[in-house]
Amino acid sequence: MTSLFEEVTPATEGAGDDIPVTRVDLKVNGERRAADIEPRLLLAHLLRNGFRLTGTHTGCDTTNCGACTVLLDGKPVKSCTVFAVQAGGHEVTTVEGLATASELHPIQEGFKDEHGLQCGFCTPGMMLSAKALLDENPNPTEDEVRWALSGNLCRCTGYQNIVKAVLWAAEKMQGDSPDSESTEGEG
Ligand code: FES
Ligand code: FES
Repeated sequence: MTSLFEEVTPATEGAGDDIPVTRVDLKVNGERRAADIEPRLLLAHLLRNGFRLTGTHTGCDTTNCGACTVLLDGKPVKSCTVFAVQAGGHEVTTVEGLATASELHPIQEGFKDEHGLQCGFCTPGMMLSAKALLDENPNPTEDEVRWALSGNLCRCTGYQNIVKAVLWAAEKMQGDSPDSESTEGEG
């Protein structure tokens, strides 16, 4: 079990004694996890600070950028806007849950092959939004990819190669062999 007492920051001396701590049990990347936390703790902070899954980034803390996107029971959520206790009894997937020990997920391969990232800050959230899309719609159009990623902001890439990366992954996941040559040199 992970305890998250470092998140308890009393405003005044002695005030911390009254802050309630509650137990949250959830599955993260297929593993059962538990933590004693303040009910106000955000899921993003439990993942990053409690479970040390630092692939979940926080950019804005205000539900705008999508860097903190994870899957909650397969649906993309902005974990900066979900209380950790709301994930109790549910299954969370972070970017660390995509690859196996020996293989990248096709979405990760797609981002690599199509140069779908620059600084990489938005990338985990992009990948999880893409995963939710492809799980529901294995053969999306470009427009559908753009719509699915519309809650995820990227300051570097111009989005073009991110969209190509997701389409590449869709092809690969359907057993086709994606052709990456058309993307060389485009940004
Ligand atoms: S940190 Fe959650 S949307 Fe930006
Ligand atoms: S790659 Fe830098 S923000 Fe998207």
